[in-house]
Amino acid sequence: MPGFFFVMSESVPPQTSIPPGIHCARDYELLARGRIVAPTLAYIAGGSGEDRTLAANRAAFDAWAIHPRLLRELGQGHVRTRVGDEEWSHPLMLAPVAFQRLVHPAAETESARAAAATDTCIVASTLSSASLEDIARAAGPRRWFQLYLQPGREATLDLLHRAEAAGYGAIVLTLDAAIQLPSRRALRAGFRMPADCTPANLCTHAPVAMPVPPAGASRIFQGAMAAAPTWADLDWLLQHTRLPVWVKGVLHPDDAVALRDRGAAGLVVSNHGGRGLDGAPASLQVLPAIRAAVGDACPLLLDGGIRSGTDAFKAIALGADAVLVGRLQVYALAVAGALGVAHMIRLLHEELEACMAQAGCATLADVRRAHLGPALPVTRHARTDEDTDADLD
Ligand SMILES: Cc1cc2nc3c(=O)[nH]c(=O)nc-3n(C[C@H](O)[C@H](O)[C@H](O)COP(=O)(O)O)c2cc1C
Repeated sequence: MPGFFFVMSESVPPQTSIPPGIHCARDYELLARGRIVAPTLAYIAGGSGEDRTLAANRAAFDAWAIHPRLLRELGQGHVRTRVGDEEWSHPLMLAPVAFQRLVHPAAETESARAAAATDTCIVASTLSSASLEDIARAAGPRRWFQLYLQPGREATLDLLHRAEAAGYGAIVLTLDAAIQLPSRRALRAGFRMPADCTPANLCTHAPVAMPVPPAGASRIFQGAMAAAPTWADLDWLLQHTRLPVWVKGVLHPDDAVALRDRGAAGLVVSNHGGRGLDGAPASLQVLPAIRAAVGDACPLLLDGGIRSGTDAFKAIALGADAVLVGRLQVYALAVAGALGVAHMIRLLHEELEACMAQAGCATLADVRRAHLGPALPVTRHARTDEDTDADLD
């Protein structure tokens, strides 16, 4: 007799309450897996190539142990911090994640509402399903705009002016996605971007045709890379906005120093959540060298693999001023909309505070490299969630 089997043909709609069984921020990842239809989940969860960098992002966190400390006076503890010129109540941010309509009909406006409710800085993507104006209306005062330079400068200027008019406080220029190969995981799962997920911000400009390489020329160098950003484009951007410009996608200390010297307000150490060059190092792995190269004064953010408050602690101990949350945001959005995202941030916040308390740190300034040491490889006991995690990241 054939066994009963069930294949989800549509994602389960987000709930309007927090489902039972969520005990930590990462539980949203586990729960979302059963609610997002398989090809879409493959697109969101997947990295590039064979997912080597995706896996490295998580392994890099697991390679560190945190040393608990005793008898510290922590009654005045807090997680307030300064990032660039801004004073924040915590160091957790929502990363720019495109096409959120894939998991929620109200898309990024829900994540923005969660950001407002939790005093979190949201970075709205150029490729968001909701317009940057709608996101700004839903968000709190802490909102930044992630920019992909457009093939035509008029279109880029238009985005910049709209972001300035909508009250965004900074531009985050993403430079690591000039060429992005489709995720093999998503291809194998048969993922296709639905028609209603087209980027709302770009519909005011007719798409500029990509240069067609001459016969025999490279599709990569003379094709995709012909319009890719260069140092001259960065200089142009810095001259055309009054907002601070952060650069996202930095993985090499020499690039970090050059960007700082060129006028970047701060840097985001990131490998695009393992969706760029497969085989690139984990963001956490390169963070200490980048911090050493740029010095203490240069603001540094980190993303890639953040799933818990202890991950945030490790990133801060190794030199980050704050961390961004990518996939976990989408998973929480898929499970319970704005409520889920706000709850996920709240859980991360408390996990970070608990970790600091156990490590004897009253403030983020106390969170130092000296609190970390190498972790011994641990044989995992059969925990259903950990075991089945392997295919997610
Ligand atoms: C589905 C998806 C869409 C993304 N879209 C963007 C984007 O539009 N702009 C951008 O700079 N980064 C984008 N990223 C990368 C994130 O900003 C961030 O670097 C990454 O997700 C961090 O890793 P994490 O997912 O492990 O937290 C995207 C990531 C995912 C998973």
